[in-house]
Amino acid sequence: MSLISVSDLWKSYRWQGRNVEALRGLSLSISEGECFGLLGPNGAGKTTLLRILATMLPPDRGEIRIAGVELRRQPEHIRRTLGYVGQQGGTDIQATVFQDLLLQAHLYGLRGQAARRRVSEVLEQLELSSLASRPVSSLSGGQRRRLDLALGLVHRPPLLLLDEPSLGLDPVSRRQLWECLRDLRAQGTTIVLTTHYLEEADQLCTRLAIIDKGSIIADGSPARLKQESAGETLILTLAPSGSANVRQQAGELLGTCSFVRAVHEEDSEQLRLSVEHGESALPAVLHLLEEAGLTVSSLVLERPSLDDVFFRYAGRSLKKAQAETAGPGARSAFAWKGR
Ligand SMILES: Nc1ncnc2c1ncn2[C@@H]1O[C@H](COP(=O)(O)OP(=O)(O)O)[C@@H](O)[C@H]1O
Ligand SMILES: [Mg+2]
Repeated sequence: MSLISVSDLWKSYRWQGRNVEALRGLSLSISEGECFGLLGPNGAGKTTLLRILATMLPPDRGEIRIAGVELRRQPEHIRRTLGYVGQQGGTDIQATVFQDLLLQAHLYGLRGQAARRRVSEVLEQLELSSLASRPVSSLSGGQRRRLDLALGLVHRPPLLLLDEPSLGLDPVSRRQLWECLRDLRAQGTTIVLTTHYLEEADQLCTRLAIIDKGSIIADGSPARLKQESAGETLILTLAPSGSANVRQQAGELLGTCSFVRAVHEEDSEQLRLSVEHGESALPAVLHLLEEAGLTVSSLVLERPSLDDVFFRYAGRSLKKAQAETAGPGARSAFAWKGR
């Protein structure tokens, strides 16, 4: 059964007297234990979707169920089953790390020793124990983001919603955050995150949905999306290199194989083979050429990127889509402290 099911979700904002449609009939389903990525350019509707799921924003239309419970009927219940970490985080910069987490624990109804114990646990989990007495304002970007995550986890939610968790982090802090998220998932937390980093989606997500202009244009595992949209390419160099005769012989032979979609002559050195499954085609190609007495000097598997996938479905590159600005831009996420 799916943990989250969203069906025909619509949401528009009023801005300067006109309607900005943020979500247009979006549907999706997310299973327990997944790390589900929402990938899309600025203004695609990612934050809007997460805030609706977190019960912070009412949808105009559509049905949402989380763990079988209808969101609009029991928002309080839903709120307790999830942790939400906004695009800008929700930390109180005056407090110390410990105080900030303790306040969050109190907001979720934990009291006394139980609250302090839980705070110590999450501090340890996110490697923040040594920073417990530091004021939040003194933390680095990466530490702050880990604190945001800790705040979302205090009440042990089985579901975590993260809006651009690694936005603005340096590569080292980003990798550290990815490790935290992998650990959380290994411990059974379902994670839904938004990102416009293709690499992040590729590294972390078991499944992802590509969102553009308020609806989902493709979804699946990163590997499947890449394979379906673009197939894979084998780049073949034969010996002696530069021999047109050898290339032609190989090209004709490979062109008759069922697993080769097309053969292109890249330049006077290489052939490019378009195949469906690179991994299984690779040994077969080697075997076939060897049997024909041809010598392979290199055979490289080139996999498509998520960029290629976005291009295929959205009809423009993610970079180009990113540069387009729609409407006023997302208002900064506000600090949400439980009830
Ligand atoms: N508070 C708001 N008022 C008006 N328009 C908004 C507001 N928040 C978001 N939008 C618009 O809704 C669309 C989707 O925004 P958002 O959900 O923030 O996208 P994303 O998180 O993918 O960048 C954009 O066109 C954005 O400008
Ligand atoms: Mg956003």
